[in-house]
Amino acid sequence: MLVFFVVVIVVLIIYLSGRPSYDNTRVTDALLTEFDLTNNNSTLNYDLAVEIALRNPSNIYRSHYNHINITAIYKNQAFGIMNYTSFSQGPNHETHLTPSFRGQYSLNLGAGDDLSKSGVSGADYYDIFIKLNLENESVKKFRPHWKFHRKLEYTCELKVPLISNGQSAGGNRFNTTRCTYI
Ligand SMILES: *[C@@H]1O[C@H](CO)[C@@H](O)[C@H](O)[C@H]1NC(C)=O
Ligand SMILES: *[C@@H]1O[C@H](CO)[C@@H](O)[C@H](O)[C@H]1NC(C)=O
Ligand SMILES: *[C@@H]1O[C@H](CO)[C@@H](O)[C@H](O)[C@H]1NC(C)=O
Ligand SMILES: *[C@@H]1O[C@H](CO)[C@@H](O)[C@H](O)[C@H]1NC(C)=O
Ligand SMILES: *[C@@H]1O[C@H](CO)[C@@H](O)[C@H](O)[C@H]1NC(C)=O
Ligand SMILES: *[C@@H]1O[C@H](CO)[C@@H](O)[C@H](O)[C@H]1NC(C)=O
Repeated sequence: MLVFFVVVIVVLIIYLSGRPSYDNTRVTDALLTEFDLTNNNSTLNYDLAVEIALRNPSNIYRSHYNHINITAIYKNQAFGIMNYTSFSQGPNHETHLTPSFRGQYSLNLGAGDDLSKSGVSGADYYDIFIKLNLENESVKKFRPHWKFHRKLEYTCELKVPLISNGQSAGGNRFNTTRCTYI
């Protein structure tokens, strides 16, 4: 009986120490070089590159991520979606994902609406959300077959300045933004 409880507690401790810290995922850079409408204001032309930093908070466990998809959303519409190549992370390692979205999307704007800007501090920024889905993170150490599977989902609410000819209006800059675990 005692042995059973000791085993349960040890397993619990190992499980908890292997849990990712959900608040250290952040977008460290976002470069928006095209964001405009053509075709009678119905087609969005976009070119966005982001850099996402994801840290393995454990100093014991390795993590493996597969089935990663990253979505770019504007006005509740997913204009860009991509599958990201799977990767592994050593203990305490930080990985930088660099997805980029480029193309055209048939954007549904309400009547009289345009690519309105959020106007933080009186300047021009676009409110673009990045959604990060990671599946099947397996964490293992000690025994090769000890794995945990889970789905992780983050939302990152970005304010992105448009860069044209290498410059943004008014010298606006992108700030590193923390993502929310949902
Ligand atoms: C342009 O869009 C407006 C509003 O959606 C529509 O009323 C108009 O017919 C469109 N014009 C053309 C040429 O498609
Ligand atoms: C597109 O929308 C902008 C802003 O609402 C407007 O000024 C422009 O005339 C529209 N263009 C067309 C082709 O409808
Ligand atoms: C992403 O992967 C899924 C499943 O493997 C596939 O159905 C989907 O078409 C892929 N999407 C893109 C944009 O490649
Ligand atoms: C993105 O990944 C999540 C979790 O892996 C999955 O539920 C969702 O269907 C995927 N979406 C697309 C568009 O591939
Ligand atoms: C998750 O990983 C396990 C072992 O690595 C594999 O057998 C399984 O097919 C994976 N599931 C998905 C949905 O990728
Ligand atoms: C970025 O950070 C600076 C300094 O904290 C702040 O003044 C500015 O408003 C921020 N910009 C955005 C888009 O949040």
